[in-house]
Amino acid sequence: MHLHPCSAMISRMIILGIESSCDETACGIVRDGNELLANAVFSSMDQHVQYGGIVPEVAARSHIEVINGVIEEALTQARLSWDDIDGIAVTYGAGLGGCLLVGVMTARTLAITKDKPLYGINHVEGHVYANFLTTTSLPGYVLPGSAPEFPCLALIVSGGHSQLVLFRDHFDYTLLGQTQDDAVGEAFDKVAKMIGLPYPGGPSVGKLAPSGDAHAFTLPKAKMPGKYDFSFSGVKTAVLRHAQAMCGKDFTFPSRLLPEALSEAQKADIAAVFQRVAIETVADKTIQAFEEFSPASVVIAGGVASSPELRRQLKERLPIEINYQDPKLCTDNGAMIATLGCYKMQKGQPTADPYSLEIEPNLSM
Ligand code: KG4
Ligand code: ZN
Repeated sequence: MHLHPCSAMISRMIILGIESSCDETACGIVRDGNELLANAVFSSMDQHVQYGGIVPEVAARSHIEVINGVIEEALTQARLSWDDIDGIAVTYGAGLGGCLLVGVMTARTLAITKDKPLYGINHVEGHVYANFLTTTSLPGYVLPGSAPEFPCLALIVSGGHSQLVLFRDHFDYTLLGQTQDDAVGEAFDKVAKMIGLPYPGGPSVGKLAPSGDAHAFTLPKAKMPGKYDFSFSGVKTAVLRHAQAMCGKDFTFPSRLLPEALSEAQKADIAAVFQRVAIETVADKTIQAFEEFSPASVVIAGGVASSPELRRQLKERLPIEINYQDPKLCTDNGAMIATLGCYKMQKGQPTADPYSLEIEPNLSM
């Protein structure tokens, strides 16, 4: 049997992925779209905690300082040299402009100097592809046993995105709906701030919630004109009003004074009720889309996909088995970017010009 030299080359590949869209400077290395060889992540989160959110300038400066070291660390983890790398993938959007620039300029320079093909990656699509990683010899990872099958329904929930996407195949998908205002992770971050919990809010609300009563009060779920669209700004305001009422104040009471005015038990109830309602909102639409499109698989992606409450609700409510990715691959990382890079190379998708690839901070799916 004669294999076309090209197809033989393209079925085996090692891609290095670079991610710098927000506060994580990350580099991952992936073989053949399923094997995790390295996942090096540096987060500048410590420098933002005092501000209660990411400061773009601070994040961009941190990327510049650490990116070369993070790439070196990934190569060391994988025990590989540049000669072993078949291509470079980089997030070029969506994200913070100054942050994206650092990753893109680094990747462009490396593509030219190391003479490797370059792939521009959409960050949100990248999140979905973390689910294709099924094997690794790196310690400390629990990966799903099998890759998602098409058609695949993807719920993408992060600090910047809340969307439901139906993938018929690689590079053939439809956006079913998305948030019309805040992303679900952003709502977690804002509610956490209101009750004095540290940033990022998802994990801190998740930690406090089990000590509260998830049915202590009710919160509205937004009714949207688009069947699969989301809205989280209403529920966030409803939490604020409820918290003000809990300490006997009206709507003029400043939210920055709430952490002192609320008791620990009240904070725990707020965390529990908000988490239940926010997660139910995304789970409801996922179930509804599952019923309409009967996909062969469902995946969750993005930072909020590491929420134990989301994992619990979907496992309980979906009529099919759902595989979850290791939480370390749900938050921003370079391995997901490298994974999508592998499929781009394998499927003959166009490469990016290393002399001209531009950032697209507002890139959508
Ligand atoms: O995907 P990601 O790392 O960055 C973006 O692309 O936005 O997501 C970060 C978001 C934050 O809003 C954070 O609060 C949320 O993901 N998050 C969680 C959990 N871990 C991170 N939300 C709920 N439960 C978690 N365990
Ligand atoms: Zn992300």
